[in-house]
Amino acid sequence: MEESLEKILTNYRNNEGNIITILQDLEETFGYIPEEAVNWFSKRLKIPASRFFGIATFYAQFHLKPRGKNIITVCRGTACHVKGSERLLNRLFIELDIPAGEDTSDDLKFTVEKVNCLGACGIAPVVVFNKEVHGKMTLDKLMRDLKSINTDE
Ligand code: FES
Repeated sequence: MEESLEKILTNYRNNEGNIITILQDLEETFGYIPEEAVNWFSKRLKIPASRFFGIATFYAQFHLKPRGKNIITVCRGTACHVKGSERLLNRLFIELDIPAGEDTSDDLKFTVEKVNCLGACGIAPVVVFNKEVHGKMTLDKLMRDLKSINTDE
């Protein structure tokens, strides 16, 4: 980790960067913002860790916990809700064995996210598998798509 952090620090200094640059590099490198990395930068740059966390929690693009290798996003906007997105969501949590109150499976294979309208209401309900949009989703299709991700390893 140390080597990656040094690289990010150099990038920050070369670009007269700001904290967001560091957070973006951390997110890209680790897939989330590790607490120990924030503490490392806090010490090196003499900036309180709370400033890093304040910014990281403000922007939805940053994640404070490790995320799954596969990201599945379920739309919960009105059109998708009316067409059964809640059932899809519940099935995903059961199928992927994601603990209550969490969004990522223990084996870090899957993270299930919820969003409010992806702007594709015409093909509701919408589920996004690793940035690939799948519309008019049904429970059967969801299970098929899930299997195809599982076997892609
Ligand atoms: S409500 Fe789901 S795409 Fe708009």
